[in-house]
Amino acid sequence: MTPMPAATPLSARVPGRVNLIGEWIDFNGGIVLPMTLDRHVTVGLTPNKTDKDLIRSAQFADQGAFPVDAPAAGHWSDYVRGALQYARNARWIAGGVDAEIASDIPVGAGLSSSAATIVATLRAASAGLSSVEPVSIAQAARQIENEFIGVPCGIMDQMAVALGRAGAALALDTRDCSYRLVDVPSDWVFAVIASGTRRALADGRYKERRGECLAAAQALGVDLLCDADISAAGRLPANLAGRARHVIGEGVRSRRAVDALSQGDRPAFGRLMSESHASLRDHMEVSVPAIDALVADALTLGADGARITGAGFGGCIVCLVEAGRAASWWEDLSSLHPAAERIA
Ligand code: GLA
Repeated sequence: MTPMPAATPLSARVPGRVNLIGEWIDFNGGIVLPMTLDRHVTVGLTPNKTDKDLIRSAQFADQGAFPVDAPAAGHWSDYVRGALQYARNARWIAGGVDAEIASDIPVGAGLSSSAATIVATLRAASAGLSSVEPVSIAQAARQIENEFIGVPCGIMDQMAVALGRAGAALALDTRDCSYRLVDVPSDWVFAVIASGTRRALADGRYKERRGECLAAAQALGVDLLCDADISAAGRLPANLAGRARHVIGEGVRSRRAVDALSQGDRPAFGRLMSESHASLRDHMEVSVPAIDALVADALTLGADGARITGAGFGGCIVCLVEAGRAASWWEDLSSLHPAAERIA
């Protein structure tokens, strides 16, 4: 539990998320299946009657002090400032603010700390304005990430942290943002394990993979890559063929996974997760050897399924384990991988 920053009238608490399946398809027309974590970011805002935002975080030693209209500066406070600028344009708040941030969501681990920070800031800034719906907050947060931060992400993370609830996964159709919450059976545990390798989405590889997906869709004559015919992928250059194979296959897997979850079919769900990992490793090429080793050992030790989660290039794995064996499974896995950390 993260302590709330000192009570201010404008405050919000928002969870991180883990994506169970449906990776790299939230801008390709797919269904994704994220779930919130019991890790949160809290934001408290106090208008300061100046033309500067002053942003402090319990996690970072330096504070961010910037004119209210300053562009992104590659600083951790960008996520807060982008949201504050949006909130001022929407006339939710006026002038500069003092912002206090506290979070126990690991940064750079693929658990949406940035989406949670933006959504929490937007929620705090619009506290008390009943007309601001969670879906609008999520869409605004994506716009801030795309335009202010400069990462061309899809809508999954923002929707997950704005709409998710504990104990359920969010089956989200990214074509139209329709969704339903599907309860997770009480004997299923989704263990989230940090590998110790961090990554940064703004480092260009996300943009590169996204560009390849768009190029593959164009070459195959579809607007959304999930709609392409997998048998046509072979005529593309090797990198685009790989991206197409992953995205088309993942679109099918995530639909099946929603069914398996609804039916309580744990072995089927686990198999789909492991197939997703193999495809992310071989076709999307977003895994790293340390993560592949962690996934392989998680399966050998008895997980029903395991995969890298989030954009990849390091970060976390998510594993499905039967509740009764989760504790001993983790004991065995952590003795093989002492640097691994259990997040959930
Ligand atoms: C990041 C992005 C999401 C999504 C995933 C990959 O988390 O923010 O929009 O594309 O990567 O599934």
